Formats: sequence, structure tokens, C-alpha cells
Amino acid sequence: MREIRKVMVTGADGYIGVPLMWELKSLGYELVGVDNRLRDKLVKRIAVDEVFSIVAPYGVTFIEGDLADKDFVHEILAIHRPDVIIHLASQPSMPYSQINGERALFTQVNNLSMNINLLWAMKELGLNSKYIITTTTGIPGQFYDVIPETTTENKAGSWYHASRGFDSVNCELANKQWGQEVIEFRTAIVYGVQNAVLETQRRITRFDTDFYFGTVLNRFINQALEGKSLSVYGQGLQKKPFIALRDVTCSLANSINMQFDRSFTVLNQMTEMKSIMELAEIVQKSVGCRIEHVPNPRVEKEDFDMMFENGQFLKVLGEYTTMDSEVPKMVKALREEKSGTMEL
Ligand SMILES: NC(=O)c1ccc[n+]([C@@H]2O[C@H](COP(=O)([O-])OP(=O)(O)OC[C@H]3O[C@@H](n4cnc5c(N)ncnc54)[C@H](O)[C@@H]3O)[C@@H](O)[C@H]2O)c1
Repeated sequence: MREIRKVMVTGADGYIGVPLMWELKSLGYELVGVDNRLRDKLVKRIAVDEVFSIVAPYGVTFIEGDLADKDFVHEILAIHRPDVIIHLASQPSMPYSQINGERALFTQVNNLSMNINLLWAMKELGLNSKYIITTTTGIPGQFYDVIPETTTENKAGSWYHASRGFDSVNCELANKQWGQEVIEFRTAIVYGVQNAVLETQRRITRFDTDFYFGTVLNRFINQALEGKSLSVYGQGLQKKPFIALRDVTCSLANSINMQFDRSFTVLNQMTEMKSIMELAEIVQKSVGCRIEHVPNPRVEKEDFDMMFENGQFLKVLGEYTTMDSEVPKMVKALREEKSGTMEL
């Protein structure tokens, strides 16, 4: 097995990217992070309130640039020649992609361009890099009984989710056409705060709680801590897949040196299925707050329970974090952060 030393992480300034960089650094990899800080700009532009972003510095190579620009991608890959690329960069907000045609187009052009630029640059430069990408459990839409850990049709229900379905198809093409090694993590809804306990006690990743960029559990906890009612869309009965941030970074890190049977591996990166009402009740138990139902802005069947195979994924992750155990930790961390009492 070839030795893996140099890892490039795209989206290195993002919610998952920052703690992943810390984790990989602690494992001794030589790291190159790339990001154009789009997320930060979009959150500041669109989510006027509740920007709650904490990003600590990290002592690794960081390149600011746009991965949708082919020449930029060629240049950084030619210079750094990474053994592994972990591609996290995307415009990842479903509601943002649904605002209007301009945002829908931007989301798809941005996301597809980055993936295609990276795949083709690896081929054109003759790199033998392993390509690890996070897409989304939303790709198959509400059409499957049990979503397998293999490629599925792109039946996504939003312009963002569809863009990741196209990314998945394009990875499969690169694998079929020139044997590109790919691990696709189909990522579930991520929640959590992650402290970089190894080098600093500071909380290191951003934590957005607005309508566009905050994921549901993070938003609920913030609402509860601010004394607001939890806004459950519709009846909140539909079950969705979830995973803790620490399990996302851990499984990505573990996959770097794993050998899989196939050169294109798809893993359902999820650990628990919960309904939105169950989430609200877990938060209510931990913080004490009211729950209110608001009209569902999403186009989805409310009585549809998604189901996933995740046996292969759990072999990569190992033991997983439960939401019941993580929520009280999140509440404590955010209370400290908000009151400025966190011990450094
Ligand atoms: N957080 C979740 O709940 C979740 C769920 C499913 C899938 N995912 C996927 O995981 C990945 C990481 O998600 P995240 O929550 O950390 O998102 P994020 O928005 O915090 O991170 C993505 C990063 O990509 C960067 N980026 C976007 N376009 C770029 C470009 N053209 N050039 C360079 N950088 C660019 C952004 O600035 C951002 O920092 C994404 O691909 C997302 O689709 C996340």
C-alpha cells in the first residue's frame, strides 16, 4: 500500500473543514487547505442576525482561491501533488439554492465546476491521488425503500441536492473512464460543535443558526438558549438521517488509509434516524423550551421515513456518537460561549 503523507482539503474554512484540518494535523499529515471563504461571505450577506462563527487559526498551508476556476485548480495541484484530496467545498445550503434562478444556477455551476476541475486536473497532471468527496443523503430523494451503499439515481428534491447527485455521477464517470479511485461519503445532516482538544481548548468551528445555513439541531439548540420556541416545520414526523460532526471528521480521517474492495466506494455517512419532533424533544429535555409548528417551507412528503444501509460506513467509523449524549455537551459548550465563560 502506498504511503500517504500529503492531504489537500477543499472547503477547509467550513463547518466540517476546520475541525477536519485539526484532526488530520494531529495525525501528522502534511496539509494543504483550500477555500475561497464563500460560506463566510454568504452567511454575512444573507443571514443578518445570529452569525455565530468561531474559527481559530491553524498552522498549516492555507490557499485562498476559487476552485471553480480551472487554471487555479491546475496550478495548486501541480504545485502540491497531494496523495489524497478530501473535497468538502460546495455551496451546501438547500434553501439558498431555492431562493431564485440565479442562486440555483450559481449553486450548480459552482459545485459541478469544482468537482470536474479537480477530477480532470488529477487526470491531466497524471496524479495518482485518492479522491474522497462528501455528497449528501438527499441524492436519492424520497423514492427508495432502503437506500443502499451504492450509486443511486439522482432524484434529489432541491437544486443544491441535485448538484451533488451530478457530482456523484461525475465521480463515477472518472472512475469508469480512467480508473480514478473515489470514496464518496453520502453525508447526512450534521450537528455539533467540536473542540480542538488536542492543541487548544478553543472551540474551532463555525456554528451557524440562521434559516439558510444552520442545520436543524444546531438551530434548535440556539433557539432554546435564546429563550425562543423551537420552530418545527409541519408536523415534524418525517425521519431524517443525522450524524455528529465529530463522527464526520473521524470517519473521513479513518478512510484515508483504508483499502476498499471497489475503486469507487459509496458510504452512507449517517448514524441515527430521528424525526424532527424527536430532535425538538431531546433539546426540550436538555434546555426546557416550547415547541411550535410552522408551515413546512420544504417540498417533501411529511410521512416519509428515509431508511439507509450504513454497515460499510460503520466499519470505517467504528463506535458512533449518539444524539442523546451529544446534545447536553453542545448545550454546555454554547452556554459557555454565549456567556463568555469558556475556559481557555
Ligand atoms: N453540514 C451538513 O449538514 C452537511 C450535510 C450533507 C453534506 N454536507 C457536505 O459536506 C461538505 C462540507 O459541508 P460544510 O457544512 O462544512 O459546509 P461549509 O459551507 O461550511 O463548507 C464548505 C466550504 O466550501 C467553500 N467553497 C464553496 N465554494 C468554493 C469555491 N468555489 N472555491 C473554494 N472554496 C469554496 C466555502 O467557502 C466553505 O468554507 C459540503 O460538500 C456539503 O455539501 C454537509
